[in-house]
Parts: sequence; structure tokens; C-alpha cells
Amino acid sequence: MSETTPAPPAPKDRILIALDVERLDEADALLERLAGEITGCKIGTQLFTAAGPVAIERALKRGVRVFLDLKYHDIPNTVAGAVREATRLGVFMLNVHASGGSAMLKAAAEAATTAARDFAVPRPIVLGVTVLTSLDRRALATELGVPGTVEAHVLRLAEQARAAGLHGCVASPREIALLRNALGRDWVIVTPGIRPFRPAGAEGAPRAGSGDDQMRTATPAAAIAAGADYLVVGRPITAAPDPSLAARAILADLQAAGRV
Ligand code: C5P
Repeated sequence: MSETTPAPPAPKDRILIALDVERLDEADALLERLAGEITGCKIGTQLFTAAGPVAIERALKRGVRVFLDLKYHDIPNTVAGAVREATRLGVFMLNVHASGGSAMLKAAAEAATTAARDFAVPRPIVLGVTVLTSLDRRALATELGVPGTVEAHVLRLAEQARAAGLHGCVASPREIALLRNALGRDWVIVTPGIRPFRPAGAEGAPRAGSGDDQMRTATPAAAIAAGADYLVVGRPITAAPDPSLAARAILADLQAAGRV
């Protein structure tokens, strides 16, 4: 493997629990309940805005790896500075918007490598966010002036991100296979929209009665089979009556499918 090739995740390490909560004590309580079940979490804009870097420190203290999901999008120098600070905090993965342009993407990748050396920490995986799942073909064309399919634009942005030195991207279940086929094994794919059970015939639709807003979903096993490396799972675990049991069920689903 080359210096820039991320190691493939071990089975249990593929699930990243989304800490989409308002307060530090809620995040702490979730990590406490899931101790022993999960090894990684995702901290996004809500918790980070509310609590700051201490949210990362708390997770790391428990031995839980952190994917910092702040989706940086700014001029190259500013993004490089943010990536440097995220690397200093010890996150194992972070992301930037792939639509920020090649110079910004290159600056982000280089900042991660340089900061890892300067602070003697492992270099984080730097992901590109391609097309937000809230944007459809119509919005791409009429609001952003991007013609063609969402999938074609996702692939174009992922290829640009790779050419600039990034290590992977975030992709909805719908795009995993396309990206895996086009970009090969040496590319990290992180997938949200995971729903443990889907009734037959409900392809792409939220689970009946699930009461949430994910439109493009996949079961854990299906997402891994399509080529995902990491699964970001929020409400199926965090809103479950017993989060620990729900996490174990997801891992069992992966094991039963022979995917881990
Ligand atoms: O609760 P749920 O499993 O839907 O949480 C999924 C997580 O992944 C959330 O933190 C959400 O912000 C994130 N995400 C997503 N869809 C994307 C990108 C990120 O659901 N396209």
C-alpha cells in the first residue's frame, strides 16, 4: 500500500454512531450506553457548535475514534487552517466540500499530511462531500447551473477530489456501487442513510413508521455489499429504546451477511 492508502476498516470499526445531540452530557450518555459496542462516532455541526472541541476530547478519552463532519468550504488557506486544527485534535476522519475547487481540495489534503507530521498524530482520512442528498437533478440544473444527472456530478466531483489528493468521499447508498466501480478499492466510501430493516418492495423509501426523513436508504449489509467502507448510523441506534441492543443487531446483520 502507498503512503496515502488508508487501511481497510476492521469489522466493528465500520459503524460510526452519529452524535446528533444538543449537549455534551447527551453525547456522553450515548457513548456510555454504547461502550463496548461501537469504536467510532461522528461529530457534526450541531454538537460541535454547541460544545466545541471538548466533544471530540471526551470521545477520544473513551477510546472512540472521531469523524469530524464539519464540511469545510472556504478559500484554500482557510480550509487548510481548519484541517490543521482538526488534525491537531486527533480526529481520524474529516470532510470538506468537493465543490470547493481543486486548489482548496489540494490544500486540505496537504494540510492533513503536514499537520499530522507536525503534531505527531496519524494523518486523518480527508473526505470530499460531493452532492448533498437534499439536492436533486432539478435543483442542480436550475439553482446551481449544473446540467446532467446527480450521479454524473457526484462522480465528477469524486474524481476531482481524488486527483487533488483526497482519500475518499461521502456517498448516499444510491451512489456507492458507481463510485466503487469507477474509483476502485483504494478510495474510502462513507455512507449515511442506513436503516436496519426494509420491507420487500420498499426500495428507496423510508421504513413504514420509521418517522424520519431519509429517502435513500440501505440496510447495513446492502451498503457494505455495494462497496461502502464506513456506515454512519444515527437514529436507528440513538433513538432506539435500547441503543446498545440496536448496535449489536446491526453488527449481527453484517456478520450474518458474511460481510465482516
Ligand atoms: O439518524 P440518521 O441515521 O439518519 O443520521 C445520519 C447522519 O448522517 C446524520 O448525522 C446526517 O446529518 C448525516 N448525513 C445524511 N445524509 C447525507 C450526509 C450526511 O444523513 N447526505
